[in-house]
Amino acid sequence: MQPLSQVLPPSATTTPEGHLSIGGCDVVALAAEFGTPLVIYDAALLRDTMRRYVQALRAHDPRAEVVYASKAFWAQALLRMAHQEDLRMDVASGGELFMALHAGFPAGKIVMHGNAKDAREIGEALDAMVGLIVVDSLDEIALLDQLAGERGRRQNVLVRVTPGVKPSTHAYISTGQLDSKFGFSLEGGLAAQAVAACRAAANVNLVGLHCHIGSQIFELGAYPAAAALLAAFVKEQGGDDLTVMDMGGGLGIAYTRDDDPPSVEEFADTVMDAVHAEWDAAGLPRPRVLVEPGRSIVGRAGVTVYRVTGTKDIPGVRRYVAVDGGMSDLMRPMLYGATYEAILPDRPEAEATDTLRLVGKHCESGDVLIQEAELPPLARDDLVCIPATGAYGVAMASNYNGVTRPAVVFVEDGRATVVVRRETYAELVARDL
Ligand SMILES: Cc1ncc(COP(=O)(O)O)c(C=O)c1O
Repeated sequence: MQPLSQVLPPSATTTPEGHLSIGGCDVVALAAEFGTPLVIYDAALLRDTMRRYVQALRAHDPRAEVVYASKAFWAQALLRMAHQEDLRMDVASGGELFMALHAGFPAGKIVMHGNAKDAREIGEALDAMVGLIVVDSLDEIALLDQLAGERGRRQNVLVRVTPGVKPSTHAYISTGQLDSKFGFSLEGGLAAQAVAACRAAANVNLVGLHCHIGSQIFELGAYPAAAALLAAFVKEQGGDDLTVMDMGGGLGIAYTRDDDPPSVEEFADTVMDAVHAEWDAAGLPRPRVLVEPGRSIVGRAGVTVYRVTGTKDIPGVRRYVAVDGGMSDLMRPMLYGATYEAILPDRPEAEATDTLRLVGKHCESGDVLIQEAELPPLARDDLVCIPATGAYGVAMASNYNGVTRPAVVFVEDGRATVVVRRETYAELVARDL
């Protein structure tokens, strides 16, 4: 187990028969009982990570809040757990808002995001009475003002600022730079215009700023850099209405054994210390700090188990091993060139003697889960487990090629609970008229 131990959930062990076990459950037995592909979450790790975030932030300021970014994984069971653990909820569409409300999340604890909210979504957020709406464009501010006025409401908002900090991560998940579809840039004065527009809008109540610089961040120095720019901006804007500072999410996780991300505590300490130091230095009252982690709460807790459905050796080229899922349940390798490793649930400690390309079942050459996997010999019907698939995995699932979306189970103390059942063929045609 040693080699992949920091990528798998910490509860991962080997059973007496030599199988991979997570949360006290034999992964081979889970695959036999629930079928494959199967997404398995360590429920204790999910809960523990939420608690660590809350504790680490509130050690600096009891007013600090953790807003879970539901886009990373939004099963009802997870949203209910987040509510129990006193988190707030980041939703980025009307659908995510619906799911949070359906899970019993109090609207006042919901933060509504989105760079392209339409009138219906803004109306839904207003009708639900969400706590905060993060505004992303000048026309959105005007529309929100109008829709809130029609309802006799005055909506609390944050202005999403892109500070011009570029963290070292993939361009597709880097959001804090000037040239971004998200937010208002400091450079060029757009952020100042947005603050002025909010202040001028009768039905918009500006309470602070939001800034998400990107995702899968390992170098925490980007946060103090952003905090310095944000504090200077708050000072320049004057007024006493910018009392909330949402610093976004972005903490990275280990996908392969080469990855060594900072801890939740290091992230919390860096963000809180930076905001406090910068606001103190600017002579500003310390803001209420929010952070919005997604990946670092759910990523490591989830693994996906597939069954091998074919092997092929092309002489002098390579060995292909195909599994019963792929880009329909794990898009990240195709979307960002993300790298993963694999482990065999029935012999996690067997020697890796083969180099192979692990591919999915979809009709796309790009449907490659792992370009160069080092694994023991594999044959049809063998199980393969990819760790660290808990974030942006099933959340991005599709029905491409008529593939039904996988079941999701939570495991804890040797018990497995299906929290999302496998999709059926009938559901593939349920919407067709
Ligand atoms: C506005 C916002 N907040 C939070 C997050 C969560 O990021 P992460 O999963 O990297 O923590 C995202 C991710 O896209 C985001 O866009």
